[in-house]
Amino acid sequence: MEKSYSLNAAMIDDGEAKAAQHYADHFGEPGFKDHKKMIIEQRYEGYTEENQETWQILFRRQMEYLTEHASNVWLAGAKAINLREDKIPDLNEINSRLAPRTGWQSRAVPGYIPAQGFFACLAHRDFPTTIVIRPKESIDYLPEPDIFHDIFGHVPLHADPIFADFLQTYGQAALQTDDKYHTERLARLFWFTVEFGLIREEGRIKVYGSGLISSPGESRHALTSDEVERRPFDLNTVCDTAFEIDHYQPILYVLESFEQLRDAMNSYAERLLNGTVSTPTHA
Ligand SMILES: [Fe+2]
Repeated sequence: MEKSYSLNAAMIDDGEAKAAQHYADHFGEPGFKDHKKMIIEQRYEGYTEENQETWQILFRRQMEYLTEHASNVWLAGAKAINLREDKIPDLNEINSRLAPRTGWQSRAVPGYIPAQGFFACLAHRDFPTTIVIRPKESIDYLPEPDIFHDIFGHVPLHADPIFADFLQTYGQAALQTDDKYHTERLARLFWFTVEFGLIREEGRIKVYGSGLISSPGESRHALTSDEVERRPFDLNTVCDTAFEIDHYQPILYVLESFEQLRDAMNSYAERLLNGTVSTPTHA
């Protein structure tokens, strides 16, 4: 995926960012094993007034809906990290609240981080975070992650100890798996949970996946459309389900609790890392 940000691109266009991106593009090769070398400074002063307005609009129009329809765990996390409407998050401020809770930190990266580098960050409780924000004129169209998706969508759950453990275990398992069959299954697991997951709380289905949390259109569609099949979460079924990226998801999976996700991940990781999960010969 190429970078195609049209606003505040200068924030990710200097020597530091270029070196970090080069490192990310080669991550895993000899001499490219230190995930911290993909991290850059946020350089907060690079945000324009228009960038700040874009954040405020996105925040305002989605938060009211989420108060009713997001997982309580996401809502509690948003409060814990002091996610606020008036300005684009300063990663240092977020981390000063997040790190003492779960050890997770949100780390600025220069752009798209290929899989190996991404998993290495997760394995260390560092979340690779896009720092640019979408152009105001295309506020509804998001071809790739921006800071609204990455912070608003993802980071509140990192304040929850159970989700925090799950995500690190996921990163550790994905990092150590070089089998294509399992890499694909792990990508599906990420997609149907971290990105597009639903959860049942007090008898009602709520959103928690970042792709739903950060999208007014898709969050409503996910919860109300007759065209969406909402299946009970089962790790093997999820891993067997292919996903499509260019339209609203027709299939979603509903957790009963984040413990269910953590426990399923733990047992998958254990089997993967002990070598007791084999690749089917037909795969
Ligand atoms: Fe995401």
